Amino acid sequence: MHDGVKNKAGSPKTAQNGVWHLNLSHGDIPPYVILPGAPERTEVIAKKWDHSEFVTQNREFKTIRGTYQEMPIATVSTGIGGPSSEICINELSKIGVHTCIRVGTTGCLQAQYDLGDLIIAVAAVRKDGTSDTYIGSEYPAYAHPIVVMALMTACDKLGYRYGLGLDYTTASFYTGQARPIHEDGTGYYPSFLNNLLSDLTQAGVTNIEMETATQFVVGKLHDMRMGAVLSVISNRVTDEWGDAGGEEKSTLVASEALRILSDWDARGEIDFHCKMPTL
Ligand code: URA
Repeated sequence: MHDGVKNKAGSPKTAQNGVWHLNLSHGDIPPYVILPGAPERTEVIAKKWDHSEFVTQNREFKTIRGTYQEMPIATVSTGIGGPSSEICINELSKIGVHTCIRVGTTGCLQAQYDLGDLIIAVAAVRKDGTSDTYIGSEYPAYAHPIVVMALMTACDKLGYRYGLGLDYTTASFYTGQARPIHEDGTGYYPSFLNNLLSDLTQAGVTNIEMETATQFVVGKLHDMRMGAVLSVISNRVTDEWGDAGGEEKSTLVASEALRILSDWDARGEIDFHCKMPTL
């Protein structure tokens, strides 16, 4: 590729020796990263920081770095769904990122949530497809407990309503989330979808979306700490849709939670792997 060195199919690199899709090299961004799906949401996130600068964009992967309350931080968009999330997390791990919080929107399956409320995902049902390419479906998709703790602390500090959630990640927005092809219900709609949402509601699943399980499993297998804070943009029980300030809240919570985590890390109070201290 460069200087006569061949690029390898097993680990392709950019001309600057960076990771292929994100176009980033070790040291380009700090190890605490917020992961929105949409590239344009990186701007919304960075607006809350003291200072920020655009780093690079390739396809759906846009990167901004900066400081939030003096803490070095970055945001990288993952795109929609499992495959692009897998690429993003694998490549972030290669450049030294160890802690990520997904921010995104979600459909809610429990009536007591209002539009704009936040859900901190504790675990996720693995219907994403992508995580199965890493490990069997018996393996759980769960958030790092310390990241959950930091997200709860951030929500409490900012005074936002939130619930701890059991998420359901699917590889489809329409049919896989029981949305008929046509609004009047005509067109392809398999019978196995008839009870999907009500069964999930009855099982205590809080919400449905398209990235969290992939990110939890892939991140865990790369020895990273993962979490997710999702804003309720649709309620599938009451059939309502609307942001209601949720995007703004979730982005601020994610920045604040990473600041709290870096503070805990710096003080060495909490073991990265949640191990018991040596007695
Ligand atoms: N994202 C989803 O995947 N589903 C919704 O209903 C809302 C956001």
